[in-house]
Amino acid sequence: MAIVYLDNNATTPVLPEVLEAMLPYFSEQFGNPSSLHACGQRTLAALKQSRISVAALLGCRATEIIFTSGGTEGDNLALLGMVAPGDHVITSAIEHSAILKTCLYLQRIGCQVTHVGVNSGGQVEPDEVRRAVRPNTNLISIMMANNETGVLQPVEEIGRIAKEADVWFHTDAVQAAGKVPVSVEQIGCDLLTISAHKIHGPQGAGALYVRRGTPVHPQFHGGNQENSRRPGTENIPGIVGFGRACEIAGRGLTDGSLEHIRLWRDKLEAAVLQQIPETGVNGAGAPRVANTSNIYFDHAGGDSLVVALDERGIAASRGAACTNGDAEPSSILMAMGLSGERSRSSLRFSIGKTNTEQDIDHLISVLPETVRQLRESSAFDPASQKVVTHG
Ligand SMILES: Cc1ncc(COP(=O)(O)O)c(C=O)c1O
Repeated sequence: MAIVYLDNNATTPVLPEVLEAMLPYFSEQFGNPSSLHACGQRTLAALKQSRISVAALLGCRATEIIFTSGGTEGDNLALLGMVAPGDHVITSAIEHSAILKTCLYLQRIGCQVTHVGVNSGGQVEPDEVRRAVRPNTNLISIMMANNETGVLQPVEEIGRIAKEADVWFHTDAVQAAGKVPVSVEQIGCDLLTISAHKIHGPQGAGALYVRRGTPVHPQFHGGNQENSRRPGTENIPGIVGFGRACEIAGRGLTDGSLEHIRLWRDKLEAAVLQQIPETGVNGAGAPRVANTSNIYFDHAGGDSLVVALDERGIAASRGAACTNGDAEPSSILMAMGLSGERSRSSLRFSIGKTNTEQDIDHLISVLPETVRQLRESSAFDPASQKVVTHG
């Protein structure tokens, strides 16, 4: 059975063009870019080219890119590298665990952290950020697009607030890159995280943009790579693939492919709302990236629905892959005001470059009956509003 993969916010398949670019760097082009001989210098040239390609996607200088192992490391480096005990950090309730758990660590080492909430559309209110600023606020970290709902955050306004308050501003753009234009100048951020495997590049590569003059302290100690800000021999095949993926993502912003994805997403949502009772789109009223749809199916347990769809060859998810297996409802949806029950019955469908309209049509043809069967097999007690799912 061919899999219809609709979990592209968890990870994306590496595109053939990306794999092709990477392959030589596993074999004949194996040199260490820090070596002076020709073998090393050839990979150094590839490293430089990838840095230019990543910088082009973000509208920054190549020298402002630090290659990392992915989004988690970029987020950690941005926070841990900028903040010291006694500092105050402002973040939001809907960040990825790479931010939230790093903030927990910061609290343990004597930092203060304020988590601003979101409105029912899933957006941070800039005024709340402004009000949260204290004399010892050192960093604001608010994501650009949410991983579960795709809701875009008002990062440009927050960038202005940070500037006025003379506070550093980091944004996690892992789920925004390739889906909307990302310009560090327009956002006015000092630090920005992206990850290769969310844009059809390989897993294990990413970058942190660090504006010139931003004093980020390395979290690893060792060699002089990445201007000593991220020591360690570079993951050259990964970085080459990442560079190529950024070039493709950049082209995708203007070649109409995102518009197709948006149309398919809208088609899916319209069909669900029309054909399946007691459903709704989380974050529907807010600006969203084109590829993400988060839908609640009342009285159908989300995890059971993921499994039932998987049995029918469709890959979707309840939310962040890193928190899957948590029986907990999504804290992101709860922050938007959803009940625990509705949050548990919500599913995320995320479309990527390798999907086709047929994939969406297949999902639309399977979903109503799957939800109906699941609801039927659940004992729903309307008095207590509790759902007990059997099996
Ligand atoms: C918003 C966001 N930030 C950070 C990450 C972590 O990225 P990585 O998997 O590359 O460590 C993810 C991954 O799901 C994400 O969605």
